[in-house]
Amino acid sequence: MRGLAYAKINLTLEVTGKRPDGYHELISLMQTVSLADELSLQPTEALTLECDVPELAGDDNLVLKAARLLGRGGRFVLRKHIPAAGGLGGGSSDAALALRLLDVTYELRLKPEQLLEAAAKLGSDVPFFLHAGTALVAGRGERVTPLPDLPPHWLVLLNPGLPLSTARVFQELRPEEYSPSPAAAGEGRGEGTWRSGNDVPSPVNTLEAPALRLEPAIGGCRARLRAAGASQVLLSGSGPTVFGLAAGESDARRIAEQTGGIAARFVAREQALALSS
Ligand code: C5P
Repeated sequence: MRGLAYAKINLTLEVTGKRPDGYHELISLMQTVSLADELSLQPTEALTLECDVPELAGDDNLVLKAARLLGRGGRFVLRKHIPAAGGLGGGSSDAALALRLLDVTYELRLKPEQLLEAAAKLGSDVPFFLHAGTALVAGRGERVTPLPDLPPHWLVLLNPGLPLSTARVFQELRPEEYSPSPAAAGEGRGEGTWRSGNDVPSPVNTLEAPALRLEPAIGGCRARLRAAGASQVLLSGSGPTVFGLAAGESDARRIAEQTGGIAARFVAREQALALSS
């Protein structure tokens, strides 16, 4: 079995406070986009991972952790296209796809809540990728409300080429930068608007200021996308990848060429969850 592990962007990301467990409470509108890793699984007793980026094939790869969590072996082959530690959820998407491939290949018939529980153990962004498409994510990341797919949009992803640790960005975040309150974060940004699927909401990302302090190159990426004519420019997740919305495909391709970025489009749920043999 094989599938594509699509990247995500955070159209909005509001951190509302720190939790007793050390994680942060957040609310985020997440969207899968067309940049994707390729992952396949062949059933074997031994557990192995081959990856075209050898330094990502270590024991701590989330694909291997997913297999260990479900107590299964298999020969995984992973081709990376999503930059690692880029704020695009690449590793998390790989992990969610690994769980789904294991479930189907070994006919485990896991209930959705069992898959979600396993996903949440692997990382805060992993539960989102079990639903994919457009979804509202809350809590630490484990509360996922799938929304109707937003209309297709084109965008450009621009990565400064440096990894940025999510943990470091959260550490750098100051309490005075938190969004006012969970209720305000949900309602103020118009959860109703997102549900209507009419348009993308105005961009907001609480993690942008701390990420910029740690990685000033993000500012340059923002400026390049703006100068090239992207309509809305925002950091994705904890960065350092920045995305800019485009007016359509030709606009996205032009902006990508001008900035050295990658043109991509929103990927709807059904396409994002497709598997093939
Ligand atoms: O869950 P994950 O391992 O992907 O998170 C990486 C790091 O990001 C955590 O160790 C934590 O420091 C931070 N984080 C957070 N609050 C979240 C998600 C992640 O503080 N909701």
